[in-house]
Amino acid sequence: MTLNPTPAGPDVLVITAHPQMQDSRVNRRLMKRAREAATHAQPQASAPRIVVRDLYALYPDYLIDVAAEQALLTPARLVVWQHPIHWYSMPPLMKLWVDEVLTFGWAYGPGGNALRGKDLWLVATTGGPEDSYHPESYNRYRFDAFLPPYEQTAALCGMRFLPPLLLHGAHKVDDVEVQVHEAVFAQRLTSHPDWPELAELEEVLCAVVPTDARPDDDAAEAQ
Ligand SMILES: Cc1cc2nc3c(=O)[nH]c(=O)nc-3n(C[C@H](O)[C@H](O)[C@H](O)COP(=O)(O)O)c2cc1C
Repeated sequence: MTLNPTPAGPDVLVITAHPQMQDSRVNRRLMKRAREAATHAQPQASAPRIVVRDLYALYPDYLIDVAAEQALLTPARLVVWQHPIHWYSMPPLMKLWVDEVLTFGWAYGPGGNALRGKDLWLVATTGGPEDSYHPESYNRYRFDAFLPPYEQTAALCGMRFLPPLLLHGAHKVDDVEVQVHEAVFAQRLTSHPDWPELAELEEVLCAVVPTDARPDDDAAEAQ
């Protein structure tokens, strides 16, 4: 039996992006845990099928295979974006993935329903400790202040933005904390959507782009 079957048809799609994964302390371990979950969860019929995409390993030339990425997204119920926070946002190849894969007429806009009803989960690390994300410290804003671009991307695509899993101070937190964090990550991957925190989530915000929002867009006319 193949333990990690065909890359098509995942229930959980983990998109991981780290420009120096080989030097990573935390994200490398998270990716490893996701891969282990993908392998070990498969024999149980009820377990979600998990596929992990290491963007910098897959696309060192930044030439993203958009059709392949969209094909993996289509069946997934949970889409995970796992990355270190770089300049209060996502690393560049992750951003390029968003730019190129979440296309108008596919992910949003007229006819763009491919991601509707899926869950989006941000799993991110920061170098700054939690107390640096405060009006009186050097990051000046609470970390939540940097989340609206993620939340609104989810909303525009009709996805439910789940409470992010964050590890602040990733260089310095003690190893036990990293281990606990990894364990929570792996547990959530294999148990989605049966997470206690999801019971309290509000309905999906769905921001609809009007059909005339892009008067010159060929993609809209082709629908
Ligand atoms: C280019 C770059 C930009 C960064 N920007 C931020 C930032 O905006 N906020 C922050 O807290 N840490 C920032 N960091 C630190 C990373 O978030 C940190 O190194 C990472 O989360 C550690 O995870 P890892 O062990 O997987 O590498 C940045 C690091 C790099 C290399």
